[in-house]
Amino acid sequence: MNNPFRPTAGATPPEIIGREGLLDEFAYGLRIRSGAPGLLTIFTGARGVGKTVMLGAAEDLARTQGWAVVAETATPGFIGRIGNAMRQLADELGPGPGGRRVTAVTAAGFGITTQLPPAQQLEWREEGVRLLRLLDQQRTGLVITVDEIHAADRQEIAQLAADVQHFIREGLPIGLVFAGLPAAVSDLLNEGVATFLRRADRIDLHAASVEAVQQSYRDTFDQGGFTLEPQLARRAAEATGGYPFLIQLVGYFLWQEAEKISPVLTEGMVDEAAAAARRRNGRMVIEAALSTASRRDLDFLEAMAEDEGPSTTGDIGARIRARPNTVGNYRIRLIDAGLIEPAGYGLVRFAIPGLREHLLQGRDQT
Ligand SMILES: Nc1ncnc2c1ncn2[C@@H]1O[C@H](COP(=O)(O)OP(=O)(O)O)[C@@H](O)[C@H]1O
Ligand SMILES: [Mg+2]
Repeated sequence: MNNPFRPTAGATPPEIIGREGLLDEFAYGLRIRSGAPGLLTIFTGARGVGKTVMLGAAEDLARTQGWAVVAETATPGFIGRIGNAMRQLADELGPGPGGRRVTAVTAAGFGITTQLPPAQQLEWREEGVRLLRLLDQQRTGLVITVDEIHAADRQEIAQLAADVQHFIREGLPIGLVFAGLPAAVSDLLNEGVATFLRRADRIDLHAASVEAVQQSYRDTFDQGGFTLEPQLARRAAEATGGYPFLIQLVGYFLWQEAEKISPVLTEGMVDEAAAAARRRNGRMVIEAALSTASRRDLDFLEAMAEDEGPSTTGDIGARIRARPNTVGNYRIRLIDAGLIEPAGYGLVRFAIPGLREHLLQGRDQT
């Protein structure tokens, strides 16, 4: 058996841990096919918590029910790409019930116009209606997923929302599932560009429980023919804090050790895998997240790192010698960047595990 762990963004893990029941409403919607609340769902959560994996799970579920799927990321021009994919699907299905049954399509990468001109906008909507009627005849429908919605152009989002709302009003079988960083999604919903999306079922993803990770490690290593004693599975699980990206990294390195050193895992091997996982997490998730941070952003974050738990904005202001207004502006910037999150009135905390340790290390090195 090959290493089953997948420490790569969006890759399907050997087991989707701690997400039981989260797609039940969506699945129910696929049965009802039109107007069910679960057909409009938004997944939010920090980087690496498993949003893209949940979109993939929703797509798979839709396909097994015979639905067509258009999967997109909200980079500029996504609305045009979704439109093209819908037109292709409609053409493949043909004008009537004799058309071929299509179950999946990935949007084609052309049509990079940020905003569709009005004529094309109407055409988009008509194509959509044509496709959805064809799918409706087959008693299926269309699910559109849009990842990284926090980065979306507001006009494109507004257009997508208006069109989907139109399809729903016509009683057509459409589902829309989004994913994005929590604070930025809240802003998007509050800005009023797409009021209709506020009705979406919002599912905030968090770390899995350490117990669930422990059990999953036990099962997965067992299937690979390795021996991972319960207390060692526990130790490995604790090193992940239940954080999905770390679950994959620790599992991946531990599997490598089992292959290279011995099929019976030891405490030393678990600790080695955990250390390797932390280093890789630092390089991949944290440095990527920090790549757009300015010097002042870093000052703010380093001031936070002095606290063991959440920091008060008052303390941060005193440490970086900034006025409340300035602190407030940086706070918003950093929340939008997914680096920190609100933790109650006047409090913020780090949104990415290991970020504090990374900042403290960096400071000690300079
Ligand atoms: N529920 C889960 N259980 C175990 N591993 C998961 C789970 N969800 C995601 N992962 C793993 O975590 C990593 C990050 O997942 P991803 O969906 O890319 O996160 P996000 O889109 O929130 O940044 C991937 O390696 C993925 O395989
Ligand atoms: Mg993602």
